[in-house]
Amino acid sequence: MPLLLGVNIDHIATLRQARYARMPESPNVEPSPLVAGQDSLAGGADSLTIHVRGDRRHMQDADAFRIRSEIPLPLNFEMGVTDEMIGIALKLKPDFACLVPESRQEITTEGGLDVSAGFDKIRMAVARLQDAGIKVSLFIDPDVAQVRSAAETCAEMIELHTGCFSNATGAAVETELQRLIDAAQAGHAAALQVNAGHGINYQNLTRLWGVPHLAELNIGHSIVSRAMRVGMTVAVREMKDLMASYPG
Ligand code: PXP
Repeated sequence: MPLLLGVNIDHIATLRQARYARMPESPNVEPSPLVAGQDSLAGGADSLTIHVRGDRRHMQDADAFRIRSEIPLPLNFEMGVTDEMIGIALKLKPDFACLVPESRQEITTEGGLDVSAGFDKIRMAVARLQDAGIKVSLFIDPDVAQVRSAAETCAEMIELHTGCFSNATGAAVETELQRLIDAAQAGHAAALQVNAGHGINYQNLTRLWGVPHLAELNIGHSIVSRAMRVGMTVAVREMKDLMASYPG
């Protein structure tokens, strides 16, 4: 089975909000998450991931509904385990929902869900989403106990948090890799689809090849950063070309 790529386009909305959060009616609002989703499709993305956070710091509800209706790719809706987000998911009807912990202070999703501690609430959320035909993934640290709890919620998938692995250096790389291997094996043994994500970039990607049973990687920051790197020269040249028509 080929490894699938889910592209997380939240950062496109982050950039838009940095300039236009208070001017959503401006004719100049950009960049567009919808266009970024279309460009991801053109580049071969297998799915799109968007996270409507409780504080709406990047993706807005309207982004989610437009992307859902206009882009013919499977949609993975990343969401906190709240009644508000479950309500949105039930209307949005994404293909997949990935349940994540969410705290207001964090810059990005920092740790995995503690499924064991929040079992009843998570189990209930999984059931409500599945009743609407949405497949559910739980974003968890690569910890075998968490994998077993995730299986008990009847979720179809886990997404292993690769943040520690991605940021590891020296001997810690092997330690983090082993945690991912153990968690992936436990997930596979429990008949869970095993996905992974967070902090994966063009340099550390192939270090993950030691991890068995991976079905899909969800990658955002490094792809958006790379898009700026490969696109900046063209963008500047286009502006220079337009300026060349100044009549003097
Ligand atoms: N998976 C989950 C659950 C996430 O919260 C994020 C970050 O939004 C990602 C994957 C993508 O991480 P990154 O932006 O570091 O590639």
